[in-house]
Amino acid sequence: MALLFICEGEDPEAWKMAIRTTLPELDIRVWPDAVGNPDDVEVALAWLPPPGVFAGFVHLKAILSLGAGVEHILKDPKLPVGIPIARLIDPGLRSGMVEFVTMEVLRHHRRERDYRAQQKEREWRLLGQTPSRDRCIGILGLGHLGEICAITLKRFGFRVSGWSRSDKFIEGVDTLTGEDGLFAMLERSDILICLLPLTPQTEDILDATTMGALPKGAVVINVGRGQHLVDEALIKMLDSGHLSAATLDVYREEPLPNEHPFWAHPKITMYPHAAAWSLPSSAAPVIVDNIRRVSTGQDLFGQIDRIRGY
Ligand code: NAP
Ligand code: GLV
Repeated sequence: MALLFICEGEDPEAWKMAIRTTLPELDIRVWPDAVGNPDDVEVALAWLPPPGVFAGFVHLKAILSLGAGVEHILKDPKLPVGIPIARLIDPGLRSGMVEFVTMEVLRHHRRERDYRAQQKEREWRLLGQTPSRDRCIGILGLGHLGEICAITLKRFGFRVSGWSRSDKFIEGVDTLTGEDGLFAMLERSDILICLLPLTPQTEDILDATTMGALPKGAVVINVGRGQHLVDEALIKMLDSGHLSAATLDVYREEPLPNEHPFWAHPKITMYPHAAAWSLPSSAAPVIVDNIRRVSTGQDLFGQIDRIRGY
């Protein structure tokens, strides 16, 4: 069997080395220059694959995403039917995300932006401090990443709610489902974090109606996907003062075009899709486990439901 690495912007050598520490004999090919005989390829490891690429590998048995999201694979119009697809469930991705989300929540909670503005003016002034128990955090998505963010923020003393499709129990966290649950959560969320997968049901979920349901002065942190957020609605909400700030890590188009208004908006803190990424050291063992599962005909770890979209 051969593994095909189709990952734009990633260093194939680092991944090959990490995978070969456990599977030294594995035949690893790299798209597009070192594919060899396409008939040998049984597993593809993919990030932002070009549309139609999988159709050329007739013996493909599994597609593994190099990230938690799989929408970049599912959008392929020629995606072969019936081939199992796995999202990446990686401990490194999880710790990266919890660090990022905690950093941004604390920045907003402790008014870091206001203090920086004061420093610029050499202004010595204490700003009000809200105790964490009086700050409500809402998390859209309580999966592998959302759940650990909820647990961690709860430990800081915040009042944490989370929204998912199915019922959850997370100690100390108010878990909600359905449209009523969504709006109940939005209405009390001082800081809203989006950690949903991108699916037809979640696209544009952060629009004028949902962001309008947040309390005045709320903050939005989008670490899901750019297509979750209606850009114009966010700008309107920030300019009207309904929202006080936003942190954005993901965008409809990446890299974000130069002329996009987000770049210069004074209330937006931007990151270049840097919240959490897959590192060979922590992700390779998960990938190796899935390669072994393919060889032995088992279900993949993190196998997604194509109909559900995640
Ligand atoms: P996951 O484990 O699949 O969790 C997804 C969560 O979203 C689940 O709790 C799921 O509910 C919920 N959900 C899905 N559709 C829903 C709907 N229609 N209504 C309500 N809840 C819904 O995914 P994950 O590993 O946590 O990753 C989440 C996303 O984070 C990824 O898909 C990716 O887009 C993003 N991400 C971003 C970065 C970055 O660097 N910015 C890094 C990694 C991941 P159930 O639990 O009920 O199924
Ligand atoms: C990153 O965005 C991921 O989906 O892992």
